[in-house]
Amino acid sequence: MTLDNSTVVGVVGAGAMGTGIAQVAAAAGHRVVLADARQGATAKAQAAIAKAMDREVEKARMSRNAADEVVSRIDFQWNAIGDDYSAFSKCGLVIEAIVEDLDVKRSLFRQLESVVASDCVLATNTSSLSVAAIASACEVSGRVVGIHFFNPAPVMPLVEVVPWLGGDAAVGTSAYELMRRWNKMPVLASDTPGFIVNRVARPFYGEALRIHDEGVADVATIDWAMKELGGFRMGPFELMDFIGNDVNYAVTRSVFEAMFFDPRYKPSLTQKRLVESNFLGRKSGRGYYDYRPGADAPQPNKDPVTGVLVFERILAMLINEAADAVFLRVASAEDIDLAMTKGVNYPKGLLAWANELGVSRVHGWLEGLQDEYGEDRYRPSPLLKRMARDERRFFE
Ligand code: NAI
Repeated sequence: MTLDNSTVVGVVGAGAMGTGIAQVAAAAGHRVVLADARQGATAKAQAAIAKAMDREVEKARMSRNAADEVVSRIDFQWNAIGDDYSAFSKCGLVIEAIVEDLDVKRSLFRQLESVVASDCVLATNTSSLSVAAIASACEVSGRVVGIHFFNPAPVMPLVEVVPWLGGDAAVGTSAYELMRRWNKMPVLASDTPGFIVNRVARPFYGEALRIHDEGVADVATIDWAMKELGGFRMGPFELMDFIGNDVNYAVTRSVFEAMFFDPRYKPSLTQKRLVESNFLGRKSGRGYYDYRPGADAPQPNKDPVTGVLVFERILAMLINEAADAVFLRVASAEDIDLAMTKGVNYPKGLLAWANELGVSRVHGWLEGLQDEYGEDRYRPSPLLKRMARDERRFFE
């Protein structure tokens, strides 16, 4: 199969992700079929894409004609598609972005297979399910691949391309090259829980919550430390409130369970209680912070000693996670750094950061934590340990 500009791209699911993916594909010159089972979803998608194109014209990034052409390249399937997937018969690639439910995805892939050509690539945008579990629903399962975009898809450059155990190597390569042509920055990730970003980012939330639970610092001080000393755009608690505590907690739980309950990924009771209290963050008016009109914003205490302690502890855990992902061949060191800077806007790649600080120094911080707590959560990755011993640096 070759994926080129003449490939008709199908997108199933016209929610936040599907709408963005359809826009990206059409902007790259493809004819697109975008469908949704829910009435009104595609009308909303069409309005959202038209509005996004208007903005491009206003900002003089696109001519009116070119913007109109992008919208006209998309065939919005107005009707509930139900069992009728014939609209996708001309597609050379179909990207699925429906509800995050394994059974529903497997059934969709089977239905798609009954209408598309045998060399049509079937991709899933799943964040948390195994690509293997989705692919194995198909008869020609080698054609399945994970193509994981970030929200909002037209803005975020990162795409994780995830081949699975039984996938054709050529399918992974074609998907990777196609993403390059769509002006994305693809990285190659193994079919493991959370792929790169949702795995390596876990300590940003988890260790911040643990520090809070121990009473080392309050949320405002932890957020201040990560922004002021770390250069992160948002602190962990601000970010969890922005993402939604329900969503963030669900991802944490799913990674923890999928990792066979490794204590490094253990969810926090504090966050669970917040979800149970409907303190979901910005969207519900309360989370770690109070967003209701007139509410006071808590102030960080800006104690430099506490700040450094918080920052170094969270960063050490992040670097350890990144190093362990290299160790377990989730992705290359280069791709892991690219993923964290382009997918979640980290100020620096974590492994480049380890080089800058000194690998043995970071290893020392982790050993200190492990000594103090005696918990497996703080075990240094064997790779970090070896590199510290041999005085090696990443990317050498
Ligand atoms: P969403 O809830 O905004 O949209 C899902 C859409 O799929 C809905 O419009 C729904 O009506 C439709 N749908 C459900 N079942 C369908 C079926 N059988 N056939 C056709 N349409 C169907 O969800 P969102 O956020 O767009 O996520 C979609 C997928 O992308 C999920 O797998 C999610 O895990 C993944 N993802 C989400 C990201 C995010 O930040 N929201 C980021 C990356 C991946």
